[in-house]
Amino acid sequence: MSVFGTRPEAIKMCPLVKELASRPEIESLCCVTAQHRQMLDSVLEVFGVKPDWDLDIMTPRQTLSTITSKCLTGMDEAIDTLKPDMILVHGDTSTTFAGALSAFYHQVPVGHVEAGLRTYDKYSPFPEEMNRKLVSAIADLYFCPTVNNKNNLLREGITEGLFVTGNTVIDSLKTTVRADYHFSTEELNKLPYGEKKIILVTCHRRENYGEPMRNIMLALRQIAEEDPEVELVYPVHLSPVVREAVDTYLRGAPRVRPRSDPLPADEMHNLMARSYLVLTDSGGLQEEAPALGKPVLVMRRETERPEAVDAGTVKLCGVVQDDIVTMAQRLIRDQEAYGRMAHAVNPYGDGHACRRIADAILWHFGRGQRPADFQ
Ligand code: UD1
Ligand code: UDP
Repeated sequence: MSVFGTRPEAIKMCPLVKELASRPEIESLCCVTAQHRQMLDSVLEVFGVKPDWDLDIMTPRQTLSTITSKCLTGMDEAIDTLKPDMILVHGDTSTTFAGALSAFYHQVPVGHVEAGLRTYDKYSPFPEEMNRKLVSAIADLYFCPTVNNKNNLLREGITEGLFVTGNTVIDSLKTTVRADYHFSTEELNKLPYGEKKIILVTCHRRENYGEPMRNIMLALRQIAEEDPEVELVYPVHLSPVVREAVDTYLRGAPRVRPRSDPLPADEMHNLMARSYLVLTDSGGLQEEAPALGKPVLVMRRETERPEAVDAGTVKLCGVVQDDIVTMAQRLIRDQEAYGRMAHAVNPYGDGHACRRIADAILWHFGRGQRPADFQ
């Protein structure tokens, strides 16, 4: 039974739910917590996945405690009724932590998809670094996207049940991005792709709330004001905290297109494929954009995804206004600097992560071969 609740988990778990369903030896169940409601439903629609169980927990401005406690309470009934032989959780959200803890309370084995990412800073990203460490303590199978992630777990003394699978986000991307894609959001068909430098922006992290988010918004405004050749496209997250910051600091800025609705995943992926540059604090975009050959500036102080930084397509630009502006303007104005970053790399996967995970699960239950690691 796959358990997930937020947009990025859904984007990365839907292809796995479908892969598992395609295996005759497996009954693939899907339990959503709906920690995100609209943003989750949009992904389920894009991938055509219908949950078997829906906890429907989301409330406006929910706290970490309410998410965790509502997930835990709701999961009891889901597990008692559906009786899964294994529970799969993804990544590091509060749904992930509560899903794994609930599985443990019911003594159901846990497979952790996207295991082994670390910053080693307890409060950043917050609460994700602690969520994923706690899930590591509970899990039985670890589906690590990269060798680096596996090595993190080995250093923590976790030596059993480790698989290097690649990240399922690349599997997902392979189903959505097409050269001849026509956007259903008409405005996106009309963007001046050839004439202007389209900069795709997202921002939502809890540790960026307050001063860092203010700095980020002011930096975006300055970038747009000082370069007539850019166009910032910013699909705004539904979090009221983020929306207030956008309203306060970006209202009326020239060349910024804050979109009040988040984009469906297929629209977002294809927009990324046609953009010039990505400015973000998101985890998923740090994996997707390099695969599409798009440079990324990460508006955070650290990253748990060093692979694309090492490959040269991602740079950390921090959360200080001047730093973000300086680094973005360099990539906008200096074509050599841009060219050095704009090459497609695939450190996060080859599009076959779901197959490896399904094979690993079957192997765990004594069926089939252990899958070879993603290199
Ligand atoms: C959550 C995850 C974060 C992940 C992010 C992806 C936790 C603690 N945080 O953060 O790890 O990177 O999702 O986006 O698990 N809202 C809606 N509709 C939606 C979604 C959100 O209205 O479809 C609003 C609600 O008011 C909600 C708020 O956004 O209370 C915040 O959602 P929440 O899941 O608590 O935090 P995120 O910042 O989305
Ligand atoms: N995304 C989307 N629509 C949007 C913004 C993002 O489909 O309007 C996708 C994005 O392509 C990536 C995922 O959502 O696959 C990232 O989710 P988010 O930034 O919410 O969370 P994070 O990855 O930081 O956990």
